[in-house]
Amino acid sequence: MAEVKKIAVIAGDGIGPEVVNEAIKVLKRVEELYGYRFEFEHGLFGGIAIDEKGTPLPDETLQMCRSADAVLLGAVGGPKWDNNPKELRPETGLLGIRKELGLFSNLRPAVVFDCLIEASTLKREVLEGTDLIVVRELTGGIYFGDKFRREGPGGEEAVDTSVYSVMEVERIVRQAFEIARKRRKKLASVDKANVLETSRLWRETVNRIAPEYPDVELEHILVDNCAMQLLRRPASFDVIVTENMFGDILSDEAAMLTGSIGMLASASLGEGSFGLYEPVHGSAPDIAGKGIANPLATILSAAMMLRYTFNYADAADSIEKAVQDVLNAGHRTADIAVDSSKAISTEQMGSLVAEHMRKV
Ligand code: NAI
Ligand code: MG
Repeated sequence: MAEVKKIAVIAGDGIGPEVVNEAIKVLKRVEELYGYRFEFEHGLFGGIAIDEKGTPLPDETLQMCRSADAVLLGAVGGPKWDNNPKELRPETGLLGIRKELGLFSNLRPAVVFDCLIEASTLKREVLEGTDLIVVRELTGGIYFGDKFRREGPGGEEAVDTSVYSVMEVERIVRQAFEIARKRRKKLASVDKANVLETSRLWRETVNRIAPEYPDVELEHILVDNCAMQLLRRPASFDVIVTENMFGDILSDEAAMLTGSIGMLASASLGEGSFGLYEPVHGSAPDIAGKGIANPLATILSAAMMLRYTFNYADAADSIEKAVQDVLNAGHRTADIAVDSSKAISTEQMGSLVAEHMRKV
């Protein structure tokens, strides 16, 4: 019998519980097909936790996540809590959980589904075959460096600083090489080494580690050039690794290659194999409770959990393949439907993916 893996489920607010339910449905299908075993534990998080416990991240939820092998998160937030003070806002829980769990990298895949290409703003020839992942450093760089105002000769000045240690660069670069090994074995390291000292340290560190991964093809690319190449030759990228601010911008750019927000998965990883998996989208209060949200972003996030935390590549492949097959068969939720009168529900989409899964 396979070892039981503990998954902490924090579904949150709005469409969070609706889409998370469908991901759990698909994970249960994985148990049936492959004999893997999961134990789901549910905790309060976000707005609902504020209402019931007076804090967006209750201690018991944090403890539950810490003792789990992975976390599945829906989404948090909504107009009800928008005017709350900072400590009683759902987003404060999001920042808190990432920090408390020591998550230092964010993975954002951008996969172009052939049958949805027409929905993109770019040409089919450019997009065809695009399947890349941006690995973004999450806890260092200019977003976290000292920032202050001062009086200069020309009046008021503002200062932001960017700091990276060798340790911080090493751990994320190693993680990116490992991810590349599980994929097409190509790594693009993005920096601005022609002008930034942090980027020079970044590049030196990448070059020092690279000989440990002779099977991975390495490319260094300047961030401005990378922004252009993502629009010119997106299909040529496999894994892109970069620092915090560059990753913030490039991951959003890469996301727009693919079309709908309802399809975008993500993962945040810490030391070892622990990870938190969540859709990129928010709680979508405008459609919450209607049963029409697209669950594929969350289902694909669950597939990432199988691949990157549990090393169940076979099961991850079967989910991703089933998603392709369901889309190719013409099934669409409202957000990706051409003819909205034919759109299917959240629940139907989840069931179709589960039904299309095959042991590969
Ligand atoms: P949003 O992602 O929730 O929604 C943006 C638009 O995309 C809406 O029209 C929504 O209906 C649509 N949409 C989003 N996910 C969808 C899905 N799975 N299927 C179909 N349509 C989908 O972003 P918005 O409106 O800016 O924020 C709403 C709330 O979510 C706010 O309270 C915000 O703070 C929170 N939020 C939470 C995040 C998280 O939990 N990680 C991330 C982003 C926003
Ligand atoms: Mg952003």
